[in-house]
Amino acid sequence: MKNNLIIAASILSADFCNLGQEIMDIDRAGADWIHLDVMDGHFVPNLTFGPPIISSIRKYSKKFFDTHLMVSNPEDLLSAYADAGSNLITVHKEVCKNMDKTLSKIKQFGCKAGISINPSTSISGLESVLDILDLILVMSVNPGFGGQKFISSTIEKVEKVKELISDRPIYLQVDGGINDRIAPKIVRAGANVLVAGSSIFNGGNVSEYRKNISSLKKN
Ligand code: DX5
Ligand code: ZN
Repeated sequence: MKNNLIIAASILSADFCNLGQEIMDIDRAGADWIHLDVMDGHFVPNLTFGPPIISSIRKYSKKFFDTHLMVSNPEDLLSAYADAGSNLITVHKEVCKNMDKTLSKIKQFGCKAGISINPSTSISGLESVLDILDLILVMSVNPGFGGQKFISSTIEKVEKVKELISDRPIYLQVDGGINDRIAPKIVRAGANVLVAGSSIFNGGNVSEYRKNISSLKKN
C-alpha cells in the first residue's frame, strides 16, 4: 500500500436521498477526499448540484472537499463554490479562456486550484501555469456520467503529465472508470490522487465502502 496515495470518493454514485449519511459513511470508511462532480447540462449533458448542496453537506465531514467543475462558465460562480466549503476547485482547460486568470481567482478565494483535461484534450499549454497549479486532473472517461469504462490510452497521458510536473508539488489526479485492477497501473504511471465513484459506493454500506477503498489503495 502506498502511504501517499489519495483516494477521492466521488459522491456522484452516492444515494442522493441520504446524502448527509453517505458523506459520514464515506468519511468513516477512509476516503481521503470527497470529490464533488458539478455538471451544468451544457459543458456535459448531465446535471448534478451546485453551491447550496455543497454547503449543506459541508457539516457532515471535515475532509478535503475536491470540487470538479464540469461547467461552461466556471469563472461565474467561483466565489460561491469557495464559500460553500470547497478546499480545491478544478476547472476544465477546454472552457478556460485565460487559465492563469481563472486559477489566480480560485487562489484569491482561498482554495487550491486545479486544471482538468478531457481524454481528447492535449496537455499543451499546461506548462505555462505550472507555477500556480496545485493539481492536474486527467480524465479517463468523457465527463458527464459515472460508471463508464476506463480509457486505456490515459496511462500514457498520465506518464507525460508526470514528466511535465517533474518534482513540483502538484497533485496528479485521474478520474473515471477506476477500479482495483486499474488503480495500480495508474499509480505506476505517476498519479497520486485517484477518483472513484461506482467502485467505492458499490455495496451500499460503510463496511463495503471501507473494503472498496482499501482495495483501491493496495498497489
Ligand atoms: C465523470 C465524473 C467522475 C465520476 C467517476 O464525469 O467526473 O468523477 O463520478 O465515477 P466512476 O468512478 O463511476 O467512473
Ligand atoms: Zn469528477
